[in-house]
Amino acid sequence: MKPLTHASKKALRLVLLVGVLLGLYALAVAKHDERARIRQQPVSLTPGCADKLARYGLAAGSHYVSPYTLARTGYASVKQGYTEDDVRAIQRGCNIIDDLQGQQAADPARERWNASRFVRGTHTSCDHCHQGIGDKQTAAGVPQTGSLSLAASWVMADMYEKFTGILLPYELHQMQCYINSSNGYKPNVADDLIRDVTAYSRFLAAALDLRFGNRYPEQGVDEVTASSTLKRGDDYVRGAALFQQKCARCHGPQGLGTVVDGKVLFPAVAGPNAFNLQSRNNFSFVSTILPGFICRNMPSGEEGTLSAQDCRDIGFYVSNLPRPAGDKQGPLAALWQQLMMRLMPPLIRTVERWQRPAASGSSGT
Ligand code: HEC
Ligand code: HEC
Repeated sequence: MKPLTHASKKALRLVLLVGVLLGLYALAVAKHDERARIRQQPVSLTPGCADKLARYGLAAGSHYVSPYTLARTGYASVKQGYTEDDVRAIQRGCNIIDDLQGQQAADPARERWNASRFVRGTHTSCDHCHQGIGDKQTAAGVPQTGSLSLAASWVMADMYEKFTGILLPYELHQMQCYINSSNGYKPNVADDLIRDVTAYSRFLAAALDLRFGNRYPEQGVDEVTASSTLKRGDDYVRGAALFQQKCARCHGPQGLGTVVDGKVLFPAVAGPNAFNLQSRNNFSFVSTILPGFICRNMPSGEEGTLSAQDCRDIGFYVSNLPRPAGDKQGPLAALWQQLMMRLMPPLIRTVERWQRPAASGSSGT
């Protein structure tokens, strides 16, 4: 056979390159179409979302009147209605908050297609911290102070953020939570995931009849400052003892969480599946939020039984357990945290076995 001439080699390379590029383009188009198709499909709601959205009367139509507001105030606040597309976006947003990882879904990869791409650990769900699917209420249906409400946070997003002092749009607030509180990957501001959660939060605000420009106590956490205690300082040893006594039975002796049959019963508060060093939940980053969360919401079932000092001690202890590094901390810190997360748990278990040989049989992991 005649060897290829220089010109035909060049042409062949060009054809190959164009072929590869066309292939990638076709793949992108196919993915795009697949997403467009999924967006059109009916959404199967988690039981929690089915309840909540039915109670708030979500349906497509030219007007929306919240049954919740009507029942509580006797006044029908008529708002702009929702299209079928809007309704599905709100439903998907609710599912994401209630069940980020699709553990309640029949086909997680398809039903949480827009969320699973941004998840790293196996435990987090937004609802673990934004309880009540981002809308925690008392038994009488009153929104709870300091409950990280997404409805209040949507109408209050247009305010100066208390940590940075700058105006952050709601989408960027969410993004911080994907990256750090959920220790995941950074979504694009216009990603379906962000749009769906925004649609859901906006719907909650409409259902509760919250208004722009107002302050709502259910936004954020009612934080526990050092000055609200007797100023004995935050105590690691007391925190560790309290954690073992009050928290370990659910979250595990080292805070690694409890998973049964692939379902997260109690989420990790430390280790690879927990929030990272740069989450606002991390005491050593913001010292008032985690104690506030603990005082108001934990131990689950016995909420409100801990003192401000207890909550700060426990928060301090929890934040000293190894966890992933945040997105701004660079590769060395990340490597160090990985090392600590792998070494510390077995080391601590071994030491404890030496200290309490009799108890080692009964203690779990
Ligand atoms: C480990 C606990 C935790 C998890 C999990 C978590 N968040 Fe958050 N979230 C927080 C904390 C803490 C704040 C900050 C509150 C503050 O600054 O007062 C916050 C703030 C927010 C805000 C801004 C609220 C405001 O009022 O400023 C949004 C929006 C948000 N989270 C959405 C989400 C979404 C969506 C998810 C799931 C992907 C999620 N969060 C998962 C703890 C968490
Ligand atoms: C009876 C079981 C139980 C006990 C005891 C308990 N928790 Fe929890 N905890 C939960 C559950 C369940 C969640 C998930 C949120 C929800 O369902 O309310 C949770 C969520 C959390 C979260 C937020 C989720 C996350 O990803 O970080 C923190 C922090 C937390 N608990 C800390 C504590 C601390 C500290 C104690 C001890 C004072 C404690 N918990 C005791 C069951 C428990």
